[in-house]
Amino acid sequence: MARHVIAAVDELPPGTRKFLEIDGRPIAVFNIKGEYFGLMNRCPHQGAALCEGPLIGLAQSSEPGEIEYTKLGEIIRCPWHGWEFDIRTGQSYCDPRRFRVKAYPAHVEPGASVVKGPYVAETIPVRIESDYVVVEL
Ligand code: FES
Repeated sequence: MARHVIAAVDELPPGTRKFLEIDGRPIAVFNIKGEYFGLMNRCPHQGAALCEGPLIGLAQSSEPGEIEYTKLGEIIRCPWHGWEFDIRTGQSYCDPRRFRVKAYPAHVEPGASVVKGPYVAETIPVRIESDYVVVEL
């Protein structure tokens, strides 16, 4: 695994991201509130530049009518079809195959926690060394 210095810490302040290509692989590194995370800039759905989408939060509901917005700025929404992935883990949180334009009978059930989807974006290890942000590939 080779180390790649991608920026001085000062060049990547909280709330920003940097795109680069390492050995032909598109990478994005994010500074989320002072923590650094790397993602392969390729959506596992159909290959869009995933990391060029907006950073959003995760809406969760424990019961009908109650919505809690968590992980603010830690979820990336793919610019092509809107699938959402956790920047920290690459995990998607819904299964888009379940969303179809078709009518179904509706009924109320007890609230359930958010279900993880089958897709996971590839994550890249990121470290700080002597004030430089470093990824390993
Ligand atoms: S390519 Fe990302 S959601 Fe379809």
